[in-house]
Amino acid sequence: MTTRIIATGAYAPEQVITNDDLAKVVDTSDEWITKRTGIRERHISSGENTSGLAVKTARQILERAGIKAGTLDLIIVASVTADYSTPATSCIVQKEIGAHNAVAFDVSAACSGFMFALSIADKYIKAGVYNNAMVIGAETLSKIVDWSDRSTCVLFGDGAGGAYVEKSETDGIIKEEIGTKGEICDILTGGYTACSNIFSENNDSTDNLWYVSMNGREVFKFATKSVVKSVERVLKDAGAVPGDIKYVIPHQANARIVEVISNKLAIPYEKFYINMDRYGNTSSASIPIALNELNEKGLLERGDRILLTGFGGGMTWGTMLISW
Ligand code: COA
Repeated sequence: MTTRIIATGAYAPEQVITNDDLAKVVDTSDEWITKRTGIRERHISSGENTSGLAVKTARQILERAGIKAGTLDLIIVASVTADYSTPATSCIVQKEIGAHNAVAFDVSAACSGFMFALSIADKYIKAGVYNNAMVIGAETLSKIVDWSDRSTCVLFGDGAGGAYVEKSETDGIIKEEIGTKGEICDILTGGYTACSNIFSENNDSTDNLWYVSMNGREVFKFATKSVVKSVERVLKDAGAVPGDIKYVIPHQANARIVEVISNKLAIPYEKFYINMDRYGNTSSASIPIALNELNEKGLLERGDRILLTGFGGGMTWGTMLISW
């Protein structure tokens, strides 16, 4: 028994901010951003919060899967930019789509979030606890990005993507792994809120670390190393070789990271599906948005072997080999 992706969906805010638009607010250029990252534009919310993007994605997935919300067993939303600390974004999705029989919770694993959420759903389904799940990655990173910091603000975008998965006797998730390396968690941080209250020594939270802060070079090194090792392990465990794979869907952070990964794994760059040029890094939404695009374009055929792999804050990584 396995877990099969039945339908995908995605949504990104209408407003598109180009590299030239950013060059008007920080000291940067289209040339620098394109050359160093492969990003040309990104969708930025004009006010709609993370749950709004997640709900639109969920509705699209339900329609495409041809199922009623009441039949959903499980809803997991991965996000680091939830509307609230409580309720979870997944609970808002549950309410808005009317998934009265589901259990809903969120996971926080930054850009690997969708991989973590899908891994959890897979475990519940394979254990026979649930028959199906809706898994969504949704982010409005624009609210935790420092728009005066050119070294980070050019990288990120807003969006959501997800999938409906079901118990299956045939094709589906073959092998997967998720991992963390908390020892280096401080190389990529964001969204810190200070413990400030009327009884605390310091009730001034102006020095908090709300905005995304990153050691770009260390993240680059971690990303290339962790993804390569993770993909090698998953392929080995599955008894598969790079030649078996039709598409790799990498986390859409930086085209140069993908080039390094492609070289080290000896998987041709053309097999990597890239859309960061149009979305930037949407964290937990990046892999499902890309997966949905591949699916919408009709590029996936039943039985194709595809590999999803991502890395992110935490530091985290996750890789999954799927028979479509
Ligand atoms: N526009 C113009 N110049 C910029 C710039 C921008 N947007 N951002 C940084 N620079 C400048 C720096 O100030 C530096 O100038 P200096 O040499 O005068 O000091 C120069 O460009 C080089 O900066 P550096 O940080 O060394 O560049 P880099 O080649 O490492 O590229 C990243 C920076 C962020 C693109 C790269 O490190 C990266 O992609 N890292 C991984 C990040 C990532 O994936 N994060 C998400 C994880 S989920």
